[in-house]
Amino acid sequence: MKIVVADRDGVAHELDAVEGWRVMEIVRAHGVKLGAECGGSSVCGECRVRVAPEWQNKLHEPRDEELDRLDEHLAGDDERLSCQLIFSEELNGLTLSLPDAA
Ligand code: FES
Repeated sequence: MKIVVADRDGVAHELDAVEGWRVMEIVRAHGVKLGAECGGSSVCGECRVRVAPEWQNKLHEPRDEELDRLDEHLAGDDERLSCQLIFSEELNGLTLSLPDAA
């Protein structure tokens, strides 16, 4: 299973993905630069990713904590915290890009 992530230089990386892992962990495990200072507790907001339009309604709704953090960072409507996205079979092929500043 795969996720596809365009880094901040616009280079697309096809990454092997493991069910049950956070998307943030998958991206970082493959060496794509993505901040995650809080370790996945929805505090730092550094792990923000932009979700491709065709995938947005396949993700679960963000919880209040995630929404608060996205608001604080003036995130676009297409952004999510990748630490709050748990990879599953249904997300095979998930396509993301990294926002300019995270
Ligand atoms: S890793 Fe800090 S908010 Fe996701």
